Order: sequence, then structure tokens, then C-alpha cells
Amino acid sequence: MRSGCRSIHVMLMANEYITLLENKHILLAVTGSIAVYKAVDLASKLTQAGAKVDVIMTEAAQHFVTPLSFQAVTGRPVYTDMWQTGGDALPTHIAHVALGESADLLVVAPATANTLAKLAHGLADDLLSVTALAARCPLLVAPAMDGGMYQHPATTANLDTLRARGVHIIEPEVGRFASGLVGKGRLPETVTLIGHIRQVLGRAQALAGRHVVVTAGGTREAIDPVRFITNRSSGKQGYALAQAAVDAGASVTLITTSDLPVPVGVTPVFVASAQEMMESVLHHAAQASALIMAAAVADFRPQTTSAHKIKKKDDTDEAPTIPLSRTPDILMQLKAHRQQSGFPQVVVGFAAESEHLIAHARSKLERKGLDLLVANDITAPDAGFEVDTNRVIILDAHGGQLPLALASKTRVAETIISRVADLLSSTANQ
Ligand code: CTP
Repeated sequence: MRSGCRSIHVMLMANEYITLLENKHILLAVTGSIAVYKAVDLASKLTQAGAKVDVIMTEAAQHFVTPLSFQAVTGRPVYTDMWQTGGDALPTHIAHVALGESADLLVVAPATANTLAKLAHGLADDLLSVTALAARCPLLVAPAMDGGMYQHPATTANLDTLRARGVHIIEPEVGRFASGLVGKGRLPETVTLIGHIRQVLGRAQALAGRHVVVTAGGTREAIDPVRFITNRSSGKQGYALAQAAVDAGASVTLITTSDLPVPVGVTPVFVASAQEMMESVLHHAAQASALIMAAAVADFRPQTTSAHKIKKKDDTDEAPTIPLSRTPDILMQLKAHRQQSGFPQVVVGFAAESEHLIAHARSKLERKGLDLLVANDITAPDAGFEVDTNRVIILDAHGGQLPLALASKTRVAETIISRVADLLSSTANQ
């Protein structure tokens, strides 16, 4: 029974809808690399995520994959010919102008060395290169090529030219090529490509130019070199907040104890104990626009950490007693700094409670000097630790409280980030 539920859940997660991509018009241009099969998956995942994906194929790309593959996953016509007119998307204009005018983003993935050279030098001899010149939207390029081609000075110079022009380049990965050689030049996996797409589209959103610090996971307080005290926090809500902040355009520092995959655009800082997390927060949040303390920080730690593994004695049943002491309260420490510097401009805390939810949460918000406090009842089976959903109430410093229905941690994160953006824009307008 349990495993049945799990597989349905995995299927739902695979078709992830991404709010930022909803109705975004993405032009995906594919060129003649063996990696073009991965672009079919990219087109499919972008479409499932809510984007409107129009594919342009070079002639070389069609030697690897047919236009029908892309048409099948996007449900839209595929463009291969510079002189093509008509079709649903192109009622009157010729293709390159119409496509370039309406797109929110042009993605070239995979981009061969030949296409990079054309883009760098402004050549215009096929639909892709002409569209790139006509388009006014951001351009994102994912090079993929074999052997020494990526390292060749000509390719390096072309990439430098594109970067200097503001083009976003996705670094290829190191690995084994179709030729059997090993080197740098492989197209990254779909999840990474979509991460870069989110980062570029986010630049037009409400937190563009802002620095947001998020904490995630449960801290680990060492007893000896092999044992520690921790809690049930997985870090999922913190990672969802970091991704939502990138989608909103922020540069994000994630101070974390967790080893979940780090979203593209997020700078991770890995810590273990409450003390380490506090030092990192005070350093990174000193000039940040916002701090979101989603981490479950331990309140107690062993008074001393044994340098060596504590051994049991064979001749007795006695167990050691481990005296505890209090850890620093990170938000209380930050409050003092904030009173002097005014930074971070917005501070958000979390409260995990098992009784008297609102009363305890309100008292934490006031004591810790927070702008928002996200309260959740950890006794609910579908909310809080380890699960992918959460049911929270957002309290503000003016007595307001907003209960959210049960939602994925992703949706909860988006709501919190949009409240943070509202608070920052009202601070700027004062
Ligand atoms: N927090 C913190 N430093 C600590 C403990 C908690 O900064 N040493 C932060 C958490 O990250 C969270 C908020 O304070 O954003 C509330 O955490 P919570 O564990 O719910 O509350 P506590 O302050 O620990 O109070 P109590 O244990 O009485 O519930």
C-alpha cells in the first residue's frame, strides 16, 4: 500500500508545474550535436511545466532527431525553414521576425561550435541565426561538443564575445563523449538546464538585484567524532524557499546542513552546528535584503564534545550521562545587529509548534523582532517535517494572520517570497 502511494507521488513530482514558466514563450533552438536527444526531454519538461515552447531546428540537428519528436512533445509546429510563413504562431510575418518578437527567452541547447561562431559574429544564414539577430529577449546558450573543440582558442574567444554581450552561457559538463574521449563538453541534464532558464527569466521579477539569505535543515551538535544530536528537519522547505527566491530574481545564499540538490543560482554554505550557522548568518546577512530562518536550530548541545569516540565498558551496564547547555539563539543575536545597521531589511522566522500554535508563534515574532513568522502545527501528518506538503499560517508584525490551505512546500515558498517582495518594495517606498 505504502509503495503504491509512493510511485503515484513520484509520477506527480516528475510532471512538475513551475509558476515562473506559466505561459512563458520559450524559443528552443537546437543544433547538430548528438546531445540533441536531450533537448527533446528539455522541450517536454518545459511544456509540462507550463511554458509555450517553439522549437527551431538547424539542418544539421535534423540528422539526429526529426522535427516530429519535438512537435509531439510540445504540441506545436517546429520551425526549420527561414522562408516559412503561416501556421498558428505566424499568421502574417515571416518566421524569424514573428518568433523573435514574441519570445520571452531564446535558448540554444545544444549549441555547436559552428553555431557559437555564427552567434558571436552576427552571421545570418539560417532561421536560428537570423532569429537570434532579430530577437530582443535574453539569450541563453548551452555549448555541447566533442573532444578539444570546446577548449579551442576560437571557441573560447567566441564564448568571451557572447558573454561580454550579456549572453548567459551554461558551462558544459565533464564526461565521456560519443567518440569515447573524455573531457569538458557534455550538455548538462534537463534539471540543470531548466535551473538556468529559471535564473534568467527571474531577472525580470520582483526581487531582481536583491540578496536573500535562507537557512535550511536541522543543526547537528556533536557528542563525539561519530555521534551527534539533531532533529527531524529535512531542509525541503528551506530549499524550496531558495528556489522561489531565484525565480523572483534574487541572488541567494543558502546556509544549510542538508545535502539536497542545490538549485541553480544558489550559493550554498554548508554548516553543521548552531554555532557555525550563527557565525555564517551574521556574516552573510550583514548587508542582505532579507533573511529567512527556515532551519530547525538545536536549542541544546552537549556541554563538551569528546575528542575520541566514547567507548562502552564490557564489565558494566552503565551508560554515560551527557550534560547539555543552551545554543545561541541566532535570531536574537541578529536582532541586536539589525537595530544598529538596519540590515537585513526583512527578517522571517519559522515556528514549529505542537500546541497553542498562534499564541506561541505571536510571542516568538515579537520576542525575536520579526517581520513575518511562518507557523506550522507539527502534529499534522501532512505538514512539517520530511513530507513534501505544508500547512502554515503567516503572521505579520501588524497583527495580521494569513492561513494557507495544505499546499506543496514549493507553493508555500512562493507565497512567503511574494510577501517578502511586498515588504521590501514598501520599505523602498517609505
Ligand atoms: N531559531 C534561532 N536560533 C535558535 C533556535 C531557533 O534562530 N537557537 C530560529 C528558528 O530558525 C526559527 C525561529 O527561531 O526561525 C523559531 O524556532 P523554534 O525552534 O520554533 O523556536 P525556539 O526559539 O527554539 O523556541 P521553543 O523551543 O520554545 O519553541
